[in-house]
Amino acid sequence: MSETFTKSMARNIFYGGSLFFFLLFLALTFDTESALPDRDNRQAISEKVALGKKVWEEHDCIGCHTLLGEGAYFAPELGNVYKRFGNSTEAIVGFIKSRPENGIPGRRSMPQFNLSDEELEAVAEFLKYASGINTNNWPPNIQG
Ligand code: HEC
Repeated sequence: MSETFTKSMARNIFYGGSLFFFLLFLALTFDTESALPDRDNRQAISEKVALGKKVWEEHDCIGCHTLLGEGAYFAPELGNVYKRFGNSTEAIVGFIKSRPENGIPGRRSMPQFNLSDEELEAVAEFLKYASGINTNNWPPNIQG
């Protein structure tokens, strides 16, 4: 019996390992794809949500905020702001309108964007949609 590790053994490990991990990759991709429709809140996407996303992009909200963990760290995470504001789009609209006058003195404040009522409602609706995405509560972000 020989203890040598031959070239053909190495080759078999290489091909077998590659095949194993490729199949694992396919299985996990399939698992993710089939879980998405129940988690990504796609049924909530409306014209208004789409307009809200446009407002979000045109005013570079992500230049200060994160959304589901992605973005800048200057201002609060907004992925669940709808829930943190008591499931209320009115509260979000009221907040955006009230800045910077109602900010906490001496602390950084949100600028005033002078959005129209339609834009305000749409961006709030976009944030409501974002709050409905099931991210397993990521990123951890509680009020207060
Ligand atoms: C120049 C940086 C900046 C930009 C750009 C910005 N924000 Fe803010 N935002 C802030 C800061 C700072 C706060 C928290 C301080 C405060 O109370 O004003 C805040 C707070 C908020 C809050 C309340 C969050 C909470 O958890 O209390 C909402 C909602 C919000 N912003 C929405 C928006 C939207 C929508 C846009 C894009 C139209 C936007 N922000 C763009 C700086 C910014």
